[in-house]
Amino acid sequence: MQSNRILVAGAGGFIGGHLVAELLRRGHDDVLAVDVKPLDQWYQVFPQVENEVADLKELYACRAACAGVSEVYNLAADMGGMGFIENNKALCMLSVLINTHLLQAAHEAGAERFFYASSACVYAADKQKNADVTPLAEGDAYPAMPEDGYGWEKLFSERMCRHFREDFGLATRVARFHNVYGPEGTWDGGREKAPAAISRKVAAAKATGDREIPVWGDGTQTRSFMYIDDCVEGILKIMHSDIEEPINLGSDELITIDGLTELVADLAGIDVTLRHQLDKPRGVNGRNSDNTLIERRLGWAPSISLREGMAKTYDWVEAQYLAKHAAADSAAAELAGAA
Ligand code: NAD
Ligand code: GDD
Repeated sequence: MQSNRILVAGAGGFIGGHLVAELLRRGHDDVLAVDVKPLDQWYQVFPQVENEVADLKELYACRAACAGVSEVYNLAADMGGMGFIENNKALCMLSVLINTHLLQAAHEAGAERFFYASSACVYAADKQKNADVTPLAEGDAYPAMPEDGYGWEKLFSERMCRHFREDFGLATRVARFHNVYGPEGTWDGGREKAPAAISRKVAAAKATGDREIPVWGDGTQTRSFMYIDDCVEGILKIMHSDIEEPINLGSDELITIDGLTELVADLAGIDVTLRHQLDKPRGVNGRNSDNTLIERRLGWAPSISLREGMAKTYDWVEAQYLAKHAAADSAAAELAGAA
């Protein structure tokens, strides 16, 4: 009998958690959710699926996770926003072990399909020098000069997916995500990306009355940001398509980082002043997604507006911020009371 079992690797993380939720909504109940983090640190846990804590850098753990699965979604990686990837290149590159061993184990187990989460960080640096960037098309990854560390790992793992497909017949699918944001993801601690970080800073400004927002870089750098619902929809469409080569999965709504900050302040209903921090990690000057290929192949592309997505994201981050500070305040009050 054919298996319907699905493995979501990195299910305790941001995108993996939302993917499990969507698989359940679509009626898949034979799902194995795996992450290296203890369960109480997963962003979303669904008791209806099997949840396991395992280190997928290890081949034996990948073999156990892949037993009897028909589809593998690999969203596990040691990663974060610019603040993390610029300062943790070796850790980022070690994620190659996860992809290597998962591919090997999926092939051995006879899995039918394998999804790999690549990144816009594979694109060559010289194509991203201007804030007024020409959107990046799939061919712009070569000749290769990706983001140091993290981007090289992604580009290498893309190639490995290709060779497992060509040599072993494993149907691999690869999407190059452009900065993904939404609720239930990293919003503090150092790995957060700009949408969550800026939401947190604006929430803090609103709560404390200090209206100065620190913004990394000079604020003129540009990005496009994809809301999580578009990301999950795109993952499932690409996985079940016949698209064999890496493809962009991103929004093409370009905005400056100052523009993003002003948008979030507007959503929060406050006026802010921006303080630029030129010594902080900035990354490329401009990055946007060329969606010609995905539109042609799927008749679909991410379309949720930044304003709509950021409204939901800001509300969620603000709630996290207030809850964390309320907990800290009550702990401090308890300590003061005990003293
Ligand atoms: P995330 O950090 O929220 O989730 C990744 C999860 O992988 C984490 O929960 C982490 O604990 C887990 N993990 C790390 N090492 C592991 C190991 N050895 N074994 C098992 N689990 C392990 O990140 P995310 O935003 O959900 O990203 C998911 C994937 O998408 C990653 O491959 C990432 O590189 C890629 N991606 C994300 C973005 C983005 O903007 N979020 C952009 C481009 C690519
Ligand atoms: N993280 C962060 N935090 N970035 C900030 C902040 C802040 O408080 N303030 C301004 N920025 C600026 C950064 O300097 C950068 O220029 C821009 O916002 C975007 O930063 P990130 O969201 O951290 O990352 P990125 O877009 O450069 O790269 C991200 O997206 C890739 C895919 O497109 C990373 O998450 C990569 O890991 C990912 O692959």
